Amino acid sequence: MKLFKTIDAMQKWSLQEKRDGKRISFVPTMGALHEGHLSLIREAKKHGDVVVLSIYVNPAQFGPNEDLQNYPKTLDADLDHAKKLFVDATFLPTDDMIYPDGYQTYINVENMTKNLCGASRPEHFRGVTTVVAKLFNIVMPDSAIFGEKDFQQLVTIKRMVKDLNMPVEIIGHPIVREPDGVAMSSRNKYLSDEERVAARSLNQSLEFANEMIDAGETDIKKILLKVKERIKSESISKVDYINLVNANTLEDLKEFRRPALLAIAAVIGKTRLIDNHLFE
Ligand code: PAF
Repeated sequence: MKLFKTIDAMQKWSLQEKRDGKRISFVPTMGALHEGHLSLIREAKKHGDVVVLSIYVNPAQFGPNEDLQNYPKTLDADLDHAKKLFVDATFLPTDDMIYPDGYQTYINVENMTKNLCGASRPEHFRGVTTVVAKLFNIVMPDSAIFGEKDFQQLVTIKRMVKDLNMPVEIIGHPIVREPDGVAMSSRNKYLSDEERVAARSLNQSLEFANEMIDAGETDIKKILLKVKERIKSESISKVDYINLVNANTLEDLKEFRRPALLAIAAVIGKTRLIDNHLFE
């Protein structure tokens, strides 16, 4: 596996691969790779001749009181995983490269970033779209794979790519869950045993809502109330939001209509977790 630590080296390699007629499939990550990321890499293999992974904890997508300083870093293990899955190249940029002195250009997808996570993390998606656009310019992928756990991130990136005519196919990959149903996340490492039990209630409440909807319930207030009751637990410090939204625009639904997304964010202990269920 090639390891690139400069933008120039990464771009040169990608350009050569493209000149050789290879399709590049890209998995951008912030490291601390878990089975969810590995499934994105496996998916990437289906969409390209070569797979590029990036590992970069992007400061622009963390708010002032978020976990940037404590974000888990497991570089050696990450590179082992990448090698085992035959990733062709891994890109490891630094903050100085991505945001050099004088940096002042940001990308903002305006509407769909205001609801859900955008309401409590106002700068987050601007940081995500900016870094993803930069990584696309550096890696020059033909396709890029993003997990559906971060559904708002996925649709926001799709919107950016469409609005800015970027020649990249964005592929969403279903949520990967732990055996107890908790959606895989690098932040699960922070959970105590008690908090882990509370974390399970997120998925359980989504499943419960799914059953209600399957049984014909369409009253959104009733569905959201039942979900709220299910995730009440002493270890949940704050339910940030529980919303049923249009899965394309992410606007709140007034009446249930597919495609819909039931999305939850909750702070468990000090850890903020998100989960969702897509009604296609
Ligand atoms: O989903 C993530 O890990 C990050 O938001 C991403 C897409 C790598 C951008 O920093």
